[in-house]
Amino acid sequence: MITAHLTIDPHFVVGPINRRLFGSFVEHLGRCVYDGIYEPSHPNADEHGFRRDVIDLVTELGVSTIRYPGGNFVSGYRWEDGVGPRENRPRRIDLAWHSIETNQVGLGEFAQWTAKVDAELMYAVNLGTRGVQEALDVLEYANLASGTALSDQRIANGDVEPYNIRMWCLGNEMDGPWQLGHTTAREYGQRAVTTARAMRQFDDSLELVVCGSSGAGMPEFGTWERVVLEETYDEVDFISCHAYYEPLDDDYESFLASAVNMDGFIDSVVATADHVKATRHSDKTINISFDEWNVWYNTRYNEVEKITDVSDWPVAPRLLEDSYSAVDAVVFGNLLISLIRHADRVTSASLAQLVNVIAPIMTEPGGPAWRQTTFFPFAITSRLARGVTLELKLDSPTYTTKRHGEVSVIDAVATYDESTGDAAVFLVNRSMEESSELTIDTSVLADLLPNDLRIVSADSLYSDDIHAANTLDDPERVTPQHNESAVLDGHALRIVLPPVSWTAIALQRA
Ligand code: AHR
Repeated sequence: MITAHLTIDPHFVVGPINRRLFGSFVEHLGRCVYDGIYEPSHPNADEHGFRRDVIDLVTELGVSTIRYPGGNFVSGYRWEDGVGPRENRPRRIDLAWHSIETNQVGLGEFAQWTAKVDAELMYAVNLGTRGVQEALDVLEYANLASGTALSDQRIANGDVEPYNIRMWCLGNEMDGPWQLGHTTAREYGQRAVTTARAMRQFDDSLELVVCGSSGAGMPEFGTWERVVLEETYDEVDFISCHAYYEPLDDDYESFLASAVNMDGFIDSVVATADHVKATRHSDKTINISFDEWNVWYNTRYNEVEKITDVSDWPVAPRLLEDSYSAVDAVVFGNLLISLIRHADRVTSASLAQLVNVIAPIMTEPGGPAWRQTTFFPFAITSRLARGVTLELKLDSPTYTTKRHGEVSVIDAVATYDESTGDAAVFLVNRSMEESSELTIDTSVLADLLPNDLRIVSADSLYSDDIHAANTLDDPERVTPQHNESAVLDGHALRIVLPPVSWTAIALQRA
């Protein structure tokens, strides 16, 4: 048994937790939309063709903002294809995912669906094959009340109220050679700033996200962010980060420390954004929209390359349908810890993706929907992480990894909501062999909450088999367990964290 110690002091605040940290992402990719959120022939489908069981799970997951419609898909997308009478909508080739897009779901249907799951719609415009005019057109269609060709077209299509979309992504991963319209940082920056200026002529209060690198490992990482922000700084609000993690070469010690890489990634982008701020003598701060993050077994993925003949491209194929294990969920929960730890600068984030495609929710056509292991850390963190992120004093043993050097065995973040007196602590034990006995010093918290402090809940996610997953045949194999070891002993909260585990503790006034 290893031991670790944590001190919580609500006087030391990192920053407020923006609800947008608990966003997600729906791309027209594989079965995320079709046979995922939308399956009109399913017995559980509502009058609009959306699966009610999926709506219920998305609501339980507690997602705030949902990025749409891509992803790589957006860089070849014509938004007009997805509006108006369904029978007139064209079938198109999707060059990103070697699929056929039927356009049976488009902006109007997706806006309707986000209302059903009580989420905010975040829209990405195509800056790959298209540009300023199309961005202005979709903005006018979406956000203008009435009285012009495009706003009246939306009304004629059945949506009287504008969608009032606040957050807009200026393209997707434009640094990636795989991206339609891929270009240099300078040229993309000019494309993005021209588009942003035009969109601001329509509505200066829009919140605009410019593309950062598609990963910290990209050759131009750092330079890309600097150059793009040099071009766009005054016109945008966020720069995006994307990161996916997987166990490479079966190196689980490194995989379990993936959040260390995410921490460094965020710190580097913050430093680069602040460097550009300094060179411009600007008062404005650019924050991060971490609008794609997850565990993704990307190196296993080669289906797209296999289907080379365009005449064979399928509709809604099974793509990127990773099945997540207990260890994946622990890493995933740790990535959320990293995002919350940076709440002062990461003010929006989108789990990529939501249904079927590298997703916390899986569905079978005509069959059930179920929660992957990653569902639980997201749902619990979204529910409990309120108020502000606290600075922590953590004493933990360390271990050495091949990819991330020396890392802490225990990782943690704590949140505190002054308005309710609720506090929460999120923890991981990265050790593959040993449990950890953690002592949390809550004395300052207890002083602030003069009535007795009590543990409302303490739940841990782990499995004796770290590769155990929830499947169609065994959908509840890995679920969070009440951690009976959690006790308050005076002002010391003691808990035992099993090896390879993620834990959430909720505290409250008695
Ligand atoms: O989320 C899957 C893909 O990953 C997205 O389409 C793309 O933006 C990223 O490379």
